[in-house]
Amino acid sequence: MNYLVTGGTGFIGSAVVRMLLKQGHSVRVLDDNSRGALRRLQDVAGDIEFMERDIRDGAGVEEACRRVDAVCHLAYINGTEYFYSQPALVLEVGVKGMLNVLDGCRKAGVGELHLMSSSEVYQTPPLIPTPETVPLVVPDPLEARYSYGGGKIISELLAINYGRQDFSRVTIVRPHNVFGPDMGFQHVIPQFVQRMRASDEPVFPIQGSGQETRSFIEIEDFAEGMRIVLERGEHLQIYHLGNDQETSVAEVARLVANSLNREIEIQPGSLLPGSTLRRCPDISKMRALGFQPRIPLADGIDRYVKWYMMRA
Ligand SMILES: NC(=O)c1ccc[n+]([C@@H]2O[C@H](COP(=O)([O-])OP(=O)(O)OC[C@H]3O[C@@H](n4cnc5c(N)ncnc54)[C@H](O)[C@@H]3O)[C@@H](O)[C@H]2O)c1
Repeated sequence: MNYLVTGGTGFIGSAVVRMLLKQGHSVRVLDDNSRGALRRLQDVAGDIEFMERDIRDGAGVEEACRRVDAVCHLAYINGTEYFYSQPALVLEVGVKGMLNVLDGCRKAGVGELHLMSSSEVYQTPPLIPTPETVPLVVPDPLEARYSYGGGKIISELLAINYGRQDFSRVTIVRPHNVFGPDMGFQHVIPQFVQRMRASDEPVFPIQGSGQETRSFIEIEDFAEGMRIVLERGEHLQIYHLGNDQETSVAEVARLVANSLNREIEIQPGSLLPGSTLRRCPDISKMRALGFQPRIPLADGIDRYVKWYMMRA
């Protein structure tokens, strides 16, 4: 098949591109490289078509949709600091981008669309592990952080409701804390590695009590999950793509320290406004499609640390 991957030079996008090529598909990538980088696709540069375009440019997106069979839409402003510092931009890229992708697909006759949403659509999930059916919420429109989750909720609504009338297959994937080599530095694991490398001080301050939890999926497991969604995901279905091994932030810090052969003493601090205390996906729907995460967090962190040390 011919795929368009928006956000394809990003951390997850580049893994999706590689997975598609491995499956024998043709891939076109649209990205403005604001956070993405062609370096991530260097080894497959000859196998892809790259279009440097802004997802907010309707004509550019329409051109990128021509002669493709399916679109994986990942272009979005990611990175927690931007949710606080550039909330209007987060929404503009999210909402205009989504509308442009839908219009581009409709004009070019593309019948298949796969949207990358986020676990942030729940903010504080009322149930752990969280199934796909719990309500999506924006707890306070005045809190800048919710620009990210709010934009994803709007994107989902647009994809589903346009999908119902104009597409043969629309799926929505909600990733839960994907990590791996070259993920960028605005995430908890790379920040812990950077900070422990920068100082030998055993006292290690963290945000929150350390008992807050996240569930991390390694990028190779994630790409395999995406393969399964693209192959078997059903029209207008939403899938949690993650690992249901729930880990405290303190444990993440300890795993990073182990990997770096360091002893640390965790010092609790305050949480950023809008932060969630626990996150763990119920992945039964993905399991029913045949998905099984295979890489334990400790192994993934080791792989990440090795990658980091080779570049430090
Ligand atoms: N990393 C995670 O754990 C995680 C979790 C939940 C959801 N997601 C979602 O998955 C997708 C990919 O995330 P990622 O971690 O690879 O982040 P990323 O920042 O590496 O990738 C996003 C890509 O979108 C591109 N982009 C941004 N603005 C653009 C614009 N105006 N026009 C064209 N391209 C633009 C960036 O250059 C980047 O390559 C995003 O939609 C993100 O919201 C990621």
